[in-house]
Amino acid sequence: MHGVTVKIDPMRMKRRLDALAEFGRDPQGGWTRYSFTPEYIQAQNLVKEWLEEAGMKVRLDPVGNLVGRLEGIDGTLPAVAMGSHIDTVKNGGKFDGNLGVVAAVEVVQTIVENHIAHRHPIEVIVFVEEEGARFGSVMLGSRAMLGLVTLEDLHKHHDEAGITLYQALRSMGLSPEKIPASVVPPGYYKAFFEMHIEQGAILDSMNIPVGIVEGIAAPVWLAIRITGRADHAGTTPMNLRRDALSAAAEIVLAVEKIARETDKSTVATVGRLQVKPGGINIVPGEVKMTVDIRDIDVQRRQTVVKKIEDAVKVVCQRREISYEINEIVRIEPVMLPAKMRQLIASAAEEVNVPYCKIISGASHDAQIMAQITPVGMIFAPSKGGLSHCPQEYTELEDIAVCTRVLLSSVLKII
Ligand code: GLV
Ligand code: MN
Ligand code: MN
Repeated sequence: MHGVTVKIDPMRMKRRLDALAEFGRDPQGGWTRYSFTPEYIQAQNLVKEWLEEAGMKVRLDPVGNLVGRLEGIDGTLPAVAMGSHIDTVKNGGKFDGNLGVVAAVEVVQTIVENHIAHRHPIEVIVFVEEEGARFGSVMLGSRAMLGLVTLEDLHKHHDEAGITLYQALRSMGLSPEKIPASVVPPGYYKAFFEMHIEQGAILDSMNIPVGIVEGIAAPVWLAIRITGRADHAGTTPMNLRRDALSAAAEIVLAVEKIARETDKSTVATVGRLQVKPGGINIVPGEVKMTVDIRDIDVQRRQTVVKKIEDAVKVVCQRREISYEINEIVRIEPVMLPAKMRQLIASAAEEVNVPYCKIISGASHDAQIMAQITPVGMIFAPSKGGLSHCPQEYTELEDIAVCTRVLLSSVLKII
């Protein structure tokens, strides 16, 4: 049976992970490889070469997703897809996203090299702007693929330099107007798999090499603007100030308290704070801040969003400061289908490796794809649970085992 005898090539995967790591290295630490930047395009071109080397026909869709396709025996059947992303957060790690892309290429190349006949076409998708790190538009590529991104969204989201997503797409020679026409029709995919690092410490602490994802929590992102009044820091008495940063500080602590008091799977983070004018001797006049609120339970998450909005109101009213709250992202948490989890579990048993079920606290394109096709996710252990930081690390041995399980899973349904 193919499932157990076919070998993947872990050293090839290591070389590829190292090769991707040449692009977007940040002098401040780790990797900052934002979508549509020259370093991103270089990395994307490299993946394109690998996909072609694996025998795939490659296309770039209108939003910038790179898709490789390998035809199967029966051209009328839906495709089995795998994929992940190669954009990073600011000062991120080497494995987040990259591993899933390298694993998907490895699986396809292994199938081709071993002349394994398959009825279904196989696709590898490299989703663009998964992190939302540049434009605040998380999982842009997968959402666009499903028709969940409007032209208005593309004009609304911009990077720190003020370049809108729309402009960035145009400057890459992409055609945002064609996004609606490129939406993947229902039934196009038979299944989608994403292999990813866990980004948490569960697998590492239990010494289990394979996590089978049961469900994926999801974020609501709020952008809050607090407008106080800039004043002289030496001459303005404390009782006459409208200090936007002091208000923001209260809000930061309220966000932490609300999440802590809710549930152990509830998390909320203020990750960005911009203070204006930002002078040592000026009372802060304006603060822009973001809040990332996540939970696997959508009702509970909504309660937290509401409590945070109320806290902003209470703090700002008491301080006689104005505020504005904009919701910039809302993604729904999902539970992944039991039949896909069972499929991966039986692949892990075939490969003879220990596995456990796990909930993903991080978001993934897989949870968007879950709206149109059955999705399965495999997690590899993250050393010490570290992720979204330069120290992110996964052992090659674990990478090999997880990729082997991915291969066996795919072989079961192609
Ligand atoms: C992406 O990694 C996210 O979970 O925000
Ligand atoms: Mn990721
Ligand atoms: Mn990430």
